[in-house]
Amino acid sequence: MSHDEKVGIPRLATGVSGLAAVLGGGLPELSFNILAGSPGSGKTTLAHQIVFANATPDRPALYFSVLGEPAIKMLRYQQQFQFFDPAKVGTAIRFINLSQVVLEQDLSAVLDAISREVEAANPALVVVDSFRTLVRKVGTAPPAEVELQAFVQRLALHLTSWQATTFLLGEYGEVELHNNPVFTVADGLYWLTQVVERNAIVRKLQVVKLRGQASVPGLHTFRITEAGLQVFPRTLGLTARTAKRSPRPRLSTGIAALDAMLGGGIPAGDSVLVAGPSGSGKSILATQFIAEGLRRGEPGIVAVFEERPAEYAARATSFGLDLATPVQAGQLQILYLRPLDLSVDETLQELLDAVATVGAQRLVIDSLAGFELALAATFRQDFRESLYRVIGAVTGRGVTIK
Ligand SMILES: Nc1ncnc2c1ncn2[C@@H]1O[C@H](COP(=O)(O)OP(=O)(O)O)[C@@H](O)[C@H]1O
Ligand SMILES: [Mg+2]
Repeated sequence: MSHDEKVGIPRLATGVSGLAAVLGGGLPELSFNILAGSPGSGKTTLAHQIVFANATPDRPALYFSVLGEPAIKMLRYQQQFQFFDPAKVGTAIRFINLSQVVLEQDLSAVLDAISREVEAANPALVVVDSFRTLVRKVGTAPPAEVELQAFVQRLALHLTSWQATTFLLGEYGEVELHNNPVFTVADGLYWLTQVVERNAIVRKLQVVKLRGQASVPGLHTFRITEAGLQVFPRTLGLTARTAKRSPRPRLSTGIAALDAMLGGGIPAGDSVLVAGPSGSGKSILATQFIAEGLRRGEPGIVAVFEERPAEYAARATSFGLDLATPVQAGQLQILYLRPLDLSVDETLQELLDAVATVGAQRLVIDSLAGFELALAATFRQDFRESLYRVIGAVTGRGVTIK
């Protein structure tokens, strides 16, 4: 946990890479948060990640599910994630399933059960997962919408009053997000969306509200993998720029005649577009640029979109350029970015991570057309603008792009 000097509100770890950057810090302690989104949008996974990152036997978490599905079934899926630590289950984190209470009694019994457990355990974190899905007792009509609303409001008031950081997960649509009274009492309101574009799933997170903290507005793309959620902040790479050295040294392209034409090479920190029809030698030129850097002790990154790294390296070998050795020595990374559902921010994150890892001074993107194709359709629409951002971010780190 980190401590914010100015306001003195302790923050909890998010457990999610990129999320703290979006929030402008960690999760405010003792806040009441709503995680809203459609089924499958990642609410449960996000809540699990937060809980596993923070709960300890001394500062335990209670995780209530009011879904029809038993906790054991939910856990069977959730334990696939890398952050899932079985040693914490039952000690630092207790999972409590209230579906029986929903089936056999009524909503006020659910509220009583939650209150009892919280008061007995005095937890640091409380999660109530998907109250929206508690619908019907067998043989009876589901609770009327007004009854459900009233229940959620009472639950929300409890969650704000406990000395715990609390999370309410619910299936809300965009319209409700702006006129549901429950949201007015929330300190944090997070909205998760997933849209299928052609064949790709594009997931986005919006911090609709976060009291006492300057979060980054707008929609941030995120991905779910076996590591859980990973958020790619929209402002990625726009902060932490390093000033370009002046005068800027020239980088040799590896081709003496070209260096002479360029007045000694490419100015360090520039981005250079190599244009030409297919087969005109763009890739070879770029490979020579990277190989020349390696010869001079300047690490490099090649982001390939059109062929596999092994093929790329093999082609370089056929021109007498050895890429395999520097890859093994950690001087070069050949990034393979083929998926067709990438977001620009995700690609940028990979590039910046790789640049930092090898200390790259030269970067090749081969090719822009391949890059554009690897993006989910929705991100292709503003490809030019995105490219501007990528170039700004990478050259801001003192890297020369080709
Ligand atoms: N290993 C994985 N790799 C990629 N996606 C996964 C993986 N495991 C689960 N998912 C996706 O994560 C989502 C899980 O969402 P979940 O947290 O259960 O959503 P919610 O609680 O909002 O209904 C699903 O859309 C599922 O497809
Ligand atoms: Mg869920």
